[in-house]
Amino acid sequence: MSKYWSSLVNRTDPYVPGEQINDPSIIKLNTNENPYPPADSVLQAIQHEVGEALRLYPSPSVSGLREAIAKVHGVSQENVFVGNGSDEVLAFSFMAFFEPGKKIRFPSITYSFYPVYAKLFNLDFEEVSLNHDFTINTNAFYQSEGGVIFPNPNAPTGILLPIEQVEEIIFQNEANIVIIDEAYIDFAKESAVSLVHKHPNLLVIQTTSKSRGLAGLRVGYAIGNPELIEGLERVKNSFNSYTIDRLAIAGATAAMNATTYYEEIIAKIINTREWVTTELVKLGFRILPSQANFVFISHQNVKAEFLYTKLKENGILIRHFPKEPIKNFIRVTIGTDNDMKIFVRKLRQILQSTNP
Ligand SMILES: Cc1ncc(COP(=O)(O)O)c(C=O)c1O
Repeated sequence: MSKYWSSLVNRTDPYVPGEQINDPSIIKLNTNENPYPPADSVLQAIQHEVGEALRLYPSPSVSGLREAIAKVHGVSQENVFVGNGSDEVLAFSFMAFFEPGKKIRFPSITYSFYPVYAKLFNLDFEEVSLNHDFTINTNAFYQSEGGVIFPNPNAPTGILLPIEQVEEIIFQNEANIVIIDEAYIDFAKESAVSLVHKHPNLLVIQTTSKSRGLAGLRVGYAIGNPELIEGLERVKNSFNSYTIDRLAIAGATAAMNATTYYEEIIAKIINTREWVTTELVKLGFRILPSQANFVFISHQNVKAEFLYTKLKENGILIRHFPKEPIKNFIRVTIGTDNDMKIFVRKLRQILQSTNP
């Protein structure tokens, strides 16, 4: 606290990211990173960019990368905005489309950055409770005062809202923006991108951090009607002309083009998720039906906080949110098959030692 802080700083309640521990012996299953490396072509493109050209600013319009993203999604460049991680795209979207004094809605259990941005930008918000089975209560999002945002699949539950229900929320909020945060959609089915041409109030946000294994490069993007994209450009260009550096542009463009490699690793992660789910059921866990690269699980007899601590002592980092009604759940990122075999084995030992 300082008397020199502005009122903006005084009202902030910063987001706390999952622990980033620099110890290669730790099995890191706490921040939903991809356990597989980026495609070779991505690493080559970045290496190729390391050179004399770094003395020059990168492209402010990022048009090559936007074109590559547009091609993957069957839209045009005018439908695409790129930012420094989807976190930045989310922050710009809160600024561009939500209005102080008009309450926005998001689920009570969701990505914890949303209330952080709402406070930063002085926005009023309503947190909509989930249904008892942790699904999103669709009707409660109709006719919002100031707009809607939710992740699909939701985080940290991993549950996917079917596309028909997503579309109904968009339809029932014609006067306002609906933002669908699809950080994990590549591990699920049915992106809402196909609805963008039908609904001018829809903005879909995706990232290269999860399915494309580039959390360290910081590239996220939004897809929507050209007027919405222009709104985001205006915010960005009032803030920082060059949010995406040359290495990120080169790497992310190559990643958008490496479709076959990414399809393979996504399929591998989904297979591992299904295997882990079966094993966890045998160990007595309740597992919410995940369509993401993580599972959200709760044990019938053993407390989540205890499991978090014991796993950490055993060199495995997972995420625990000490908040009702999810305080007895842990979120576990899907790692490689080998990571997950070790995870299941250690978990079995921990459960046996508490229940001899
Ligand atoms: C739901 C959701 N949205 C957005 C993000 C941010 O991703 P990034 O800024 O790495 O693109 C995350 C990261 O964990 C997330 O879980």
